[in-house]
Amino acid sequence: MNRLYRKNFLKELDFAPADLEYLITLAARLKAAKKARREPQLMKGLNIALLFEKDSTRTRCSFEVAAHDQGAHVTYLGPTGSQVGKKESMADTARVLSGFFDGIEYRGFGQDIVERLAQYASVPVWNGLTNEWHPTQLLADMLTMTECTGKPLKGLTMAYLGDARYNMGNSLMVGCAMLGVNFRSVAPKSLWTSDEVFALAQEQAARSGAVIERTEDVDKGVEGCDFLYSDVWVSMGEPDSVWKERIELLTPYRVTGEVMDKTGNPECRFLHCLPAFHNRETTIGEQIYQKYGVECMEVNDEVFESDRNAAFLEAANRMHTIKAVMVATLAEEDIDEALTRAGF
Ligand code: CP
Ligand code: NVA
Repeated sequence: MNRLYRKNFLKELDFAPADLEYLITLAARLKAAKKARREPQLMKGLNIALLFEKDSTRTRCSFEVAAHDQGAHVTYLGPTGSQVGKKESMADTARVLSGFFDGIEYRGFGQDIVERLAQYASVPVWNGLTNEWHPTQLLADMLTMTECTGKPLKGLTMAYLGDARYNMGNSLMVGCAMLGVNFRSVAPKSLWTSDEVFALAQEQAARSGAVIERTEDVDKGVEGCDFLYSDVWVSMGEPDSVWKERIELLTPYRVTGEVMDKTGNPECRFLHCLPAFHNRETTIGEQIYQKYGVECMEVNDEVFESDRNAAFLEAANRMHTIKAVMVATLAEEDIDEALTRAGF
């Protein structure tokens, strides 16, 4: 039986570090097989539910394309139009959907909601983003880092600049610690990753050898880095009223050409889970400009529109890594054997 068969993936720590490594390698093999148009279909005839209580471009498209590539079908339930939450509890929804589907993706608010869904579902549940964790994004980030450097993850160094208390700050800190990537949260103290998550990461680092740090100092934080990572300053579900304070707090942490140069590493690449506020070409970007006079937020166009930006490769890797998660938890056939037979 495949090692992750019928398991949930609700946060990085649901799996062992070796399982995350396995998923990254599996994603690379599936990616190569798709490129060669010789992908073995290991999810034929399965049905997947995509439950989104927040908006999405990458995560939804990744689940849909990955399922189609693998011979499965998807049903999308968006923030409106179903009974979920309003007339039907998560516990009831879980039991209903388990009667129709072979796997359930959930994107929404608190981690407790996806945990409850998984508790009551009798099929695998995958977290497509909660306020606390974004584990499928972490897998895509790690695959991208190996592709960009051609090096093993162990020993690479990343700094995350921005609001470090939220899903990406948490997932990157714990995920890097598990996989041996040195990681620095670079943020004003009030937006640091919580002590609780920091302690979880330190436990992992004690085994993997990664160095995990929190600092307010941009110069020290980015020095020697292989990757600088950034995310939006205000996340989905946060009130508009926090924009002003967030802009004031985080403007010194914007990733600019000067900050990239401060790494001292000409090979340093920029990563971002996307979407990014790097110009005024979005409704919110323009509104923020009109209100606060800032042309961009977490990254400027000097970096975003340069060949140092690896965020689009990272976005494409969402699909391959999400495919790996679904295949690993749903395929009944021996995955390794099927891929080896196909030449991958
Ligand atoms: N990075 C990410 O999760 O993107 P979406 O919000 O578009 O899914
Ligand atoms: N922190 C962001 C991530 C988006 C992929 C959010 O939660 O909105």
